[in-house]
Amino acid sequence: MKFFIDSANLDEIKDLANQGIVDGVTTNPTLIAKEIKRTGKKMEEIIKEISIIVKGPISAEVLSNEYQGMIDEAVKLSKISKNIVVKIPMTQTGLMVVRSLKEMSIDTNVTLAFTPIQAVLAAKAGATYVSPFIGRIDDISNDGMKIIESIMKIFKNYGYDTKVIVASVRNPVHILKSLEYGADIATIPYNVFTQLIKHPLTDLGIKKFMEDYEKSKN
Ligand code: G3P
Repeated sequence: MKFFIDSANLDEIKDLANQGIVDGVTTNPTLIAKEIKRTGKKMEEIIKEISIIVKGPISAEVLSNEYQGMIDEAVKLSKISKNIVVKIPMTQTGLMVVRSLKEMSIDTNVTLAFTPIQAVLAAKAGATYVSPFIGRIDDISNDGMKIIESIMKIFKNYGYDTKVIVASVRNPVHILKSLEYGADIATIPYNVFTQLIKHPLTDLGIKKFMEDYEKSKN
């Protein structure tokens, strides 16, 4: 499974990229807005910088919700760098846009998917990636990971080659289950990445080893 970072924060992305654990990046308008506010940089500038830091796929989302507007934005975004993937919302118009962008050889990531059927429709339209938002399903007292289990089974049954990005990740259990269900990618916020790395027994173990070694000097 590939590990993407779900962030537009250039410092966070650099930090994890330096640790060699980031295969790609996903952004959305909320995350971009935070980075614009934090740095004063323009959206295109932020996306360009991300695409230089990480060589893998970088998802950048369109803001328009009508056909031609989405196509124009997608073309513009795709010109920022060759690793840009254009994020398109899961709507009827969005699916038409995905079909057209496929014909133009522009990679797409269908976002805001909440059901296995929506994921199938994204795959049929020719999406490169689909992003089911599992944390937001948990937020309304359902089990988001069940959606991933179902999508992976359906995609295997019918041989869809659209890659599944587990999105709206909230905790390390989401990652463990993504691995168990065979998801292609999980896109992980910075705070969850750090939770994945850390374990209190690792910290205690390091401390104990150091203490034991220091004792040998007496
Ligand atoms: O990748 C999707 C993600 O950015 C949405 O996450 O936490 O706003 O539900 P969240």
